[in-house]
Amino acid sequence: MAVEIRELRDTDVPALERFLEGRDRERASACLPALRDGDARGFVAASRDGGETAVGWVLVHLRLRDDQGFEPGGGTTDFQGGGHAYLENVEVMAGSRGRGIGSRLLERAESDAMGHDVHTLWLHVRESNRAAQRLYERRGWVRDRRVEPTWIDEPMLVYRLVLEAPGRVEP
Ligand SMILES: CC(C)(COP(=O)(O)OP(=O)(O)OC[C@H]1O[C@@H](n2cnc3c(N)ncnc32)[C@H](O)[C@@H]1OP(=O)(O)O)[C@@H](O)C(=O)NCCC(=O)NCCS
Repeated sequence: MAVEIRELRDTDVPALERFLEGRDRERASACLPALRDGDARGFVAASRDGGETAVGWVLVHLRLRDDQGFEPGGGTTDFQGGGHAYLENVEVMAGSRGRGIGSRLLERAESDAMGHDVHTLWLHVRESNRAAQRLYERRGWVRDRRVEPTWIDEPMLVYRLVLEAPGRVEP
């Protein structure tokens, strides 16, 4: 399966809505104003099998906006702006997992964030979601703390990734 990682377009929303669930499903269209204004960055994994379609996505918020529906708690609203950015979701369609697509989506989001003067990326992951935690840890993310936000029914782990510009030499 040939898969390209590219910027999310408005026309990807129906394909994303076919596999995203719950709040993440609503987010595929709700994030579009933030993407248009450059306050968020989104990428899709586009499969070329039988016509192009999105089989995965990643969404990163560079700046906090009122229209993105973030509730305070667990750090969510602190992670956006001033060199910090918040990776809201990365997801790959069930039938396309285990082929490195999640890793490629993260890689793209991380390098893109670095190009937007982000020094630290943050995310929440369910404490029970070991598959996602392994992916983050493989890419150098570290567990920062455990939180129990009011906006979800399960304890969450906060992970962070400090982004280092290639070749940067300390004075
Ligand atoms: C977490 C998630 C995004 C990972 O996506 P993915 O595309 O399966 O990720 P990868 O393929 O890069 O890595 C997954 C596994 O496949 C393995 N893998 C990667 N490339 C591979 C390849 N070419 N061949 C075989 N295995 C491979 C990885 O080593 C990894 O193994 P592990 O789980 O034993 O550590 C996906 O499982 C998902 O969408 N989960 C539901 C949503 C979710 O939980 N999102 C995170 C919210 S915080």
